[in-house]
Amino acid sequence: MPINVLEASKIFELRTKNSSYVFGVNENGTLQHLYWGEPVEAAECADLLRLRHHSSFDAEVNREREEYGGWGGTLYAEPCLKVKFQNGVRDLRLRYEGYEVGSRLAADDLIVRLHDEYYRLRVELRYRVIEKYDLIERSVTIVNEEDVPVRIDQVMAAAWSAPAEPSVRLTHVTGRWAGEYQLRRAPLTEGKKVLESRQGFTGAHANPWFALDDGKADELSGNVWFGALGWSGNWKIVLESSTFGQVRVVGGVNDFDGAFTLGPGESYTSPVFTGGFVSGGFGEMSRKLHNYQRDYVLPGSRERKVLYNSWEATEFAVNVREQIELAKQAARIGAERFVVDDGWFGARHSDRAGLGDWQVNPQKFPNGLQELIDEVKRLGMDFGLWVEPESVNPDSELYRNHPDWVYQFPTREGTLLRNQLMLNLGKPEVKAFVLEFMTGLLSTYDIAFIKWDMNRTITEPGAIPLREHAEESVWIKHVDSLYEIWAELRRRFPRVEFETCAGGGSRIDLGMLRFADQAWISDNTDARDRLTIQEGFSYAYSPSVMMCWVTESPHGLNGRRLPLSFRFHSAMLGGLGIGANIARWSEAEIVEANRYVALYKQVRHLVAEGDLYRLASFAEGDVAAWQYVSRDRDEVAVFAFRQAQYFGDTELRLRLQGLEPDGRYRVEMPTGAVAAGVEGTNGNAADEHTDNPAAEAHTGAVWHGSTLMRLGLPLTLAGDYASRFVYLRRHSVT
Ligand code: DGJ
Repeated sequence: MPINVLEASKIFELRTKNSSYVFGVNENGTLQHLYWGEPVEAAECADLLRLRHHSSFDAEVNREREEYGGWGGTLYAEPCLKVKFQNGVRDLRLRYEGYEVGSRLAADDLIVRLHDEYYRLRVELRYRVIEKYDLIERSVTIVNEEDVPVRIDQVMAAAWSAPAEPSVRLTHVTGRWAGEYQLRRAPLTEGKKVLESRQGFTGAHANPWFALDDGKADELSGNVWFGALGWSGNWKIVLESSTFGQVRVVGGVNDFDGAFTLGPGESYTSPVFTGGFVSGGFGEMSRKLHNYQRDYVLPGSRERKVLYNSWEATEFAVNVREQIELAKQAARIGAERFVVDDGWFGARHSDRAGLGDWQVNPQKFPNGLQELIDEVKRLGMDFGLWVEPESVNPDSELYRNHPDWVYQFPTREGTLLRNQLMLNLGKPEVKAFVLEFMTGLLSTYDIAFIKWDMNRTITEPGAIPLREHAEESVWIKHVDSLYEIWAELRRRFPRVEFETCAGGGSRIDLGMLRFADQAWISDNTDARDRLTIQEGFSYAYSPSVMMCWVTESPHGLNGRRLPLSFRFHSAMLGGLGIGANIARWSEAEIVEANRYVALYKQVRHLVAEGDLYRLASFAEGDVAAWQYVSRDRDEVAVFAFRQAQYFGDTELRLRLQGLEPDGRYRVEMPTGAVAAGVEGTNGNAADEHTDNPAAEAHTGAVWHGSTLMRLGLPLTLAGDYASRFVYLRRHSVT
C-alpha cells in the first residue's frame, strides 16, 4: 500500500517500491518527521516521536525535524510558513487536525490538515506517492478562514528531512550563460546553504534540484536523497545541517521580496516539490527522475523531430531567399523541422529594435511568411517559429503605444538588458495581448513548433496591485500568468510543440516541463563544452527534452575545431538539431551529416524512452561515455568520446550497465541506418586503425551481458576528439 496510516500511534507511512517515508503526530500535536530511506516497519519508528530537549537554549530539538514548521515559538530552523496576522501577531502554532485518504482522492494521495491553535488559518499538506519511481510529490495549500486578511511572508512547498549521516554531501548545479548545468559537490557542514533565483526565472546560476548522500555514493551505488522543485520564477531551496545532526531541506517560491496578502476566504497553493530516495547511486536517481518526467510531468510528445534552426547561420539577417536555401540543404540532410529564429518580425535587424512587434517583416518576406512555410512543407519538413513574448524593445511600436505595460517604479529608469524591458505579464491586458498575438500566429500559419525565449532577467519589479490595499507578489503573478498562457495555447493548439528557452537554458524546471515538450539547454553549442553541460543537465532532467545542435567548426564561441563525427555524436545524446550554416557546407559534409541523421532516427527511441547510464565523465578523465538501454534491455546505444589522447592509450574497456547478464549482445547497425562511415567513426580519420582488431566493437562481435558489464566493451578511441557510436542488440541465440 502506498499510504499506511497507523491510527493508534498517529503514524503515517508513505511507501514506495524501495523506500519508507514516515512521520507522526507528537505529544505537542505537532507533525514530526521520523524516517526516510530504505523500507522499515513504520510502527517501530514510534519512539522517535518523543520530544527531545537539550537545554533552555535548545528547548525543543524536535522542531528541527518538523514536517512543516510554522515560524513561531522555538523554531529557529528555516521555517516553511511565516505569516503576520492582521493584529500584528507573528507567531504560528500549527497543530495536527486530521487527514484524508481514499474516496475523494486517488489511492496514492494523502492530505494532512494542520491549523493554527488560535487563528483560523488552515494548512493542507498534500502528498502523492509515485510508488514505482520511489518519489513523493509534495505541495501545500494555505487557506485563510479569518474575516480579515493575513500577510504571508514565506510559504515553502515542503521540508524534507534526510537522516543524519556522519557526514553529508550536497550535489547541485550552477552555471551562467553558455556554461549552464555545471555539477558541484561539497560537504554540507553545520549552517545553511541556499540555492535560489531572484532573477524572475529559474536561472542559470542555480537550478531547483538537489541531491544528498554520505559522501560515498557514486553512479552505481549508495543512498541518495534528492528533490526537484517545479517553479519557473524566484525560488529558494535551503539546505540546513544543524548542530544536532539534523539535515533539512526546505524549498518553494522565494520569500525574498515576495510577501503577499491572503484576503478572507482566499487560498494559496504552492508549486510541487518532488523528493525521492534511492539506494543505487546517482545513476539510479537520474533514471527515476527521467522516467517520472516522461510518465507524469511532460505534456505529450516524446520522440524529438530532427530540426534545423537558422539562428547561428543568419542571426537577425533573415530573408526568405536565404531561408529557402537553408531549408533545401536541411531537407537533404534529413531534417524534419525547419525553425526560423529571431529576426523575422517588425524592425528586428538587431537586438536593439522591434521586439514586441509580432508582424512579419515585409522587406524580409515580401510575399509573406507563407511562401517559406509552403517551401518548407514541400521539402517534407514542418515549420517552427521563434518568439519572445514577455519582452519589448523601447524602440518598438508596442512600447510606443503602451509604455505602461512594462515593470517599472515611478521614479526610476528601467534597466535595459539586451536592450529590452520586461512586460508585466500580471496585467490582464498584457496577458490578453500575448495570448491574442500567439493565437493569431498559430491560426494564420501552419506552425508546428514554437521556440519561446526569454532573454533577460526581471529588474525593477514595479507594478500597481490589481486589488486595492492588498499586497501582491509580482514575481508569483508573472509565473502564474506564463503558465496560464502556455496551458491555454496548448489547449487551443494541441498539435503544436513548444520549446522552453531563456537565453540558453535559464528556464528549465519541473514547472516549465509540465508545458514544454523540449528545452534549449545552452547557447553554447561547442560539442565538447556541451558534453559537460549535458551531463550536468542529465542528473535531474530527461535526455528526451534536451535539445542539442550540431554547429560550425571552428566554433564561434571558442574557436575549437571538432570533427563532424564528434559534433554529431555529442548532439545525438538528446534531441538532435542542426544549427550550422549548412548553405556553406561541402557536398561531402552534407552526405556525412545525412548518414548521422539517418542513424539517429533509428536510435532516437532509445534516447527518448530508454534508460540512461552515464559510463564515464570528463570530470574524471579523458573519456566520457553515455549508454542508452531500451526498457526491455534488448537494444543498447553507446556513445564514447575521448577529448585528448596521451601516451599511446587508444584502447579502452567500457563497462556497460543495465544489461541482461545472460543475454547475448551483438554489435549491429540499427535497422535502416546507412552503414558506411558511421559506425565506429573516429574523430581523426588518420587514426582510424587499431593494432588489435579483435579487441574492437566491430559489427558482428557478440558478448554476453555479464562480460560487457564486468569486463567491458572493447573500444578504440585514437587521437584527440575521437568519438564512437556502437549499437548492440540482444539475441536469443544460445
Ligand atoms: C537566445 C537563444 O538561446 C538563442 O538560441 C536564440 O534564439 C537567441 N536568443 C535569439 O535572440
